[in-house]
Amino acid sequence: MPDTNVRPDSMQRITTPALAAAFIEEQIKELRAQIGSDQVLLALSGGVDSSVVAALLIRAVGKQLTCVHVNHGLMRKGESEQVIDVFRNQLGANLIYVDASDRFLDKLAGVSDPETKRKIIGKEFIDVFAEEAEKLEGVRFLGQGTIYPDILESKDGVKAHHNVGGMPEKFDFELVEPVKLLFKDEVRVVGRALGLPDSMVDRQPFPGPGLGVRCLGAITRDRLAALREADAIVREEIGKAVADGTEAPVWQYFAVVPDMRATGVENGKRRFDWPVILRAVNTVDAMTATVPELGWDLLKRITDRILAEVPGVCRVLYDLSPKPIGTIEFE
Ligand code: XMP
Repeated sequence: MPDTNVRPDSMQRITTPALAAAFIEEQIKELRAQIGSDQVLLALSGGVDSSVVAALLIRAVGKQLTCVHVNHGLMRKGESEQVIDVFRNQLGANLIYVDASDRFLDKLAGVSDPETKRKIIGKEFIDVFAEEAEKLEGVRFLGQGTIYPDILESKDGVKAHHNVGGMPEKFDFELVEPVKLLFKDEVRVVGRALGLPDSMVDRQPFPGPGLGVRCLGAITRDRLAALREADAIVREEIGKAVADGTEAPVWQYFAVVPDMRATGVENGKRRFDWPVILRAVNTVDAMTATVPELGWDLLKRITDRILAEVPGVCRVLYDLSPKPIGTIEFE
């Protein structure tokens, strides 16, 4: 028996809409054969991989799929709304939306250690998802957005990927992993062929713990709100500059808010507000990264907008540290 977790040498790279269409047709047949008339459950974060798996499963088995979108309160601005709009409103999916923001933020209150924060977010996510799964009856399959680099990295022991054997043992679902032999660029081509919006297909990498590792130290709701607004401005302005060609493409860019205050002055009065740190990097594999020389006009526009539009912020800083030594994320 060939190992189904090994990409055959004969498999063509999916680089064009026609190759994506052929892959989609083949997967629809295979998914229907595997799933039959049974029910499938999928945790849909809105990331590229889970979104493409959801769109494939909707084509293949329609309402036999139930998607669960857990909003952990650490999503970026407008992200959960987009998941609901695309999957429930446009694609007609069965979508359970769980707003678990309060639950996550209560558990995280006062916790400042980055790894402890990650663990709390990971455990809470599984707990919320498991609670939703238990409410459903007759689910046999679990859809997963595993992609080929996840399998390779798990085999090499580089990391235990959350998509490879990361679900709790109490789940005895059979796995459905239709993109597990694809590389990320191929998943994007397939996503586009499935009609997913560019903003979803071209989404930047976003850590599972979300804004939780960019709201440094112990997360507070007010600082998290400031981070979310500042991050939306950073993404909008750099995204626009790249789209109109005034900036070269940037691999990943976002805002960070540290747990410290700096002095500001307004109308002759001192105030103590947060700095926002702008992080932008170019990289091939995220193991090393360089910092792009963003145009002064762009940096100034971002700074002016954040200072004018985001309450509680009095400075904007641009991080010039390459990786190594600085990692891409701050925590
Ligand atoms: P670092 O900070 O290690 O980040 O240079 C490298 C890449 O990995 C992403 N990243 C994460 N992704 N869960 C994730 O799913 C995490 O806990 C996590 N931490 C970092 C980061 O955004 C960058 O693209």
